[in-house]
Amino acid sequence: MVQCFRFGYFAERISFRLDSCSSYRWVLAFVPLLFLFLIGGYVGRPFYPFPIKSKVADGNRQPLQTFRPYNVAHRGSNGELPEETAAAYMRAIEEGADFIETDILASKDGALICFHDVTLDDTTDIADHKEFAYRKRTYEVQGVNVTGWFTVDFTLQELKSLGMKQRYKFRDQQYNGKFSIITFEEFISIALEAPRVVGIYPEIKNPIFINQQVKWADGRKFEDKFIDTLKKYGYKGSYMSKDWLNQPAFIQSFAPSSLIYISNLTDLPKIFLIGDVTIPTQDTNQSYWEITADGYLEFIKQYVVGIGPSKETIVPTSNNYLLTPTDLVVKAHAHDLQVHPYTYRNEDTFLHFDFHQDPYAEYDYWINNVGVDGLFTDFTGSLHNFQEWTSPSSDDSKASKLLHKIASMMSTHGRV
Ligand SMILES: *[C@@H]1O[C@H](CO)[C@@H](O)[C@H](O)[C@H]1NC(C)=O
Ligand SMILES: *[C@@H]1O[C@H](CO)[C@@H](O)[C@H](O)[C@H]1NC(C)=O
Ligand SMILES: *[C@@H]1O[C@H](CO)[C@@H](O)[C@H](O)[C@H]1NC(C)=O
Repeated sequence: MVQCFRFGYFAERISFRLDSCSSYRWVLAFVPLLFLFLIGGYVGRPFYPFPIKSKVADGNRQPLQTFRPYNVAHRGSNGELPEETAAAYMRAIEEGADFIETDILASKDGALICFHDVTLDDTTDIADHKEFAYRKRTYEVQGVNVTGWFTVDFTLQELKSLGMKQRYKFRDQQYNGKFSIITFEEFISIALEAPRVVGIYPEIKNPIFINQQVKWADGRKFEDKFIDTLKKYGYKGSYMSKDWLNQPAFIQSFAPSSLIYISNLTDLPKIFLIGDVTIPTQDTNQSYWEITADGYLEFIKQYVVGIGPSKETIVPTSNNYLLTPTDLVVKAHAHDLQVHPYTYRNEDTFLHFDFHQDPYAEYDYWINNVGVDGLFTDFTGSLHNFQEWTSPSSDDSKASKLLHKIASMMSTHGRV
């Protein structure tokens, strides 16, 4: 490992495993940001969004690739670093993400934060914070009683005092407690500061629950605040428009009523998420079968450009082997809807036996056999490598691939 910069603890943490310095210099721009996290996180100081020196005006940035399926960095590179942290997102950008993906929830005082679960239990060190022990509650969330420490019972300042940790025990635990929760605005700033065009892919998470629990002083609701934030940073424009290509964004939600509501507020492209076949929609209580029927796809396509189904709804599995694919991709494509399934993960425990423990075999199957348009991955680097080998993005890499091929043909034929 080449240590490029020594700007204190966080920069070192972030620069781990970098073997070439030059392309990572932009990380330097985040050093002050990371110190702010440190101060905000561990001294308990109020934290406010810092000013963004947007690189959007820089017309020389490498544009978003649009010729192959999108690499969507699910919660950042959370296979390597605690999910939805600045470090996980910056790592994903280094590794080639087209979009960085996040879940938006709210704090008690109405700040929009990047956080997946309604409770803090599984991905923060909340259990070690004795001062918050009494805040443990039970709420009914989507028809189920859930007990834990809820984001909606903590102010942003309190949330900033927690350390994030890995969700899965079999992933690298050394970064636990090192990074704090970030706000939606901080997340946006990471995308805007990237050295090339990197899109964002935020989810309106648990909107029914958030609107029940969090009240904004101006009477606006969660979805309004979500769209206000995107507008504040210049996100606008329909899919593939000039504005969109300059600052690409997909808005995702499992709640069709939120997607329909915001379609009056923004023309940014939206993706309708589809869960497990047993789970009804959280707002309209429709079954999986209802929302994947042709009639419904025809209806929802007025509001969305695609669907984001769980992988199992496209290729069901049994005994860890793949079964025959459903017609969901064919149906969606027939309605001109993109398909961005979730979630691709490298570890044995998630890979089906058909792929003989090879994540590249899984990407090959989904991209070249199933024909998806985007993939939510926990390991952006692996997907990026696969795509660069099989469908390279630049003339440079095409040329080097050709040279490689020629070299290997020559050596195979014993003429070198
Ligand atoms: C949740 O708990 C409350 C209080 O015990 C109970 O009244 C309610 O029926 C429970 N809801 C569900 C969905 O189990
Ligand atoms: C969208 O705006 C139109 C016109 O103001 C209104 O009639 C309609 O109810 C709105 N739709 C939603 C879902 O809010
Ligand atoms: C949702 O739909 C199911 C099946 O139609 C029904 O049994 C259930 O009562 C509904 N739940 C709500 C909260 O409306």
